[in-house]
Amino acid sequence: MKKGILILAVVSGILGACTPKEKGETPKVSVGNQIIEDLNSRYTSKAYDKTKRVSPEDLATIEEVLRLSPSSINSQPWKFIVIRSDEAKQRFTNTFKKYKFNTHTKNASEIILFANKVHFSKEDYKKRLDASVAAGRLNQKGYDKQLEAAFGFAKMVADENGNNGHWTKAQSYIALGNVLHALARLNIESTPMEGVDTDEIQKEFAKELGDDYECTFALAIGYHKDGKDYNRKLPKARMAKEDVIIEL
Ligand SMILES: Cc1cc2nc3c(=O)[nH]c(=O)nc-3n(C[C@H](O)[C@H](O)[C@H](O)COP(=O)(O)O)c2cc1C
Repeated sequence: MKKGILILAVVSGILGACTPKEKGETPKVSVGNQIIEDLNSRYTSKAYDKTKRVSPEDLATIEEVLRLSPSSINSQPWKFIVIRSDEAKQRFTNTFKKYKFNTHTKNASEIILFANKVHFSKEDYKKRLDASVAAGRLNQKGYDKQLEAAFGFAKMVADENGNNGHWTKAQSYIALGNVLHALARLNIESTPMEGVDTDEIQKEFAKELGDDYECTFALAIGYHKDGKDYNRKLPKARMAKEDVIIEL
């Protein structure tokens, strides 16, 4: 055996004999345990360290999680405005006239505004179907069928003026749930915020939102400030399983 191959064989033999911990790996836990650990470890942060920033790589993952979120009839009736620069953060802070208790989030690494379309129209849905055709998911026959049948649902939940904002808003909460778990996985802290001023955001971010999108909640992300984040130390509090789960 050549010398190089012999060394390689010895080293891999030693590593093979090590436990995962000795090798510097995390011990294998079941996927179920991992999920529960993620959900137990995540919490709503109340103080951010403004010197710590989410890496561009993690931010790209987060943006992809938002984009990949599922929605009714694949409507994707949302826009996510990712506030990163100091200037954009200042614009966001300017909107906190009513909900001052959330101003701590100005020290977060990013703030994501979740916006939903107020009148999700047939024209909007056609763009989604065009994307399905481009992805090879739908042919022309399927396109026509979906436009009638699936869009019929969006029409059904709209009022007489075509306002289906309550339904599109519900879709954006799915993206919120999705990203909260992904953030826990990435060990990034977050603060979901319904305590935001929709009207003020509409004024401040009119250009980015466009005229038929409303933002009713936001999500701050980043890293907690050591010793300042009182929520970090508190135990998780949830209703008991028997109060909320019914197995039949
Ligand atoms: C949709 C939504 C809106 C929330 N709005 C706010 C908010 O405006 N400000 C805040 O500090 N926390 C807000 N929270 C955080 C909740 O109070 C928190 O998730 C809840 O108490 C459970 O605690 P945990 O997230 O630490 O597990 C919100 C959470 C959700 C899911």
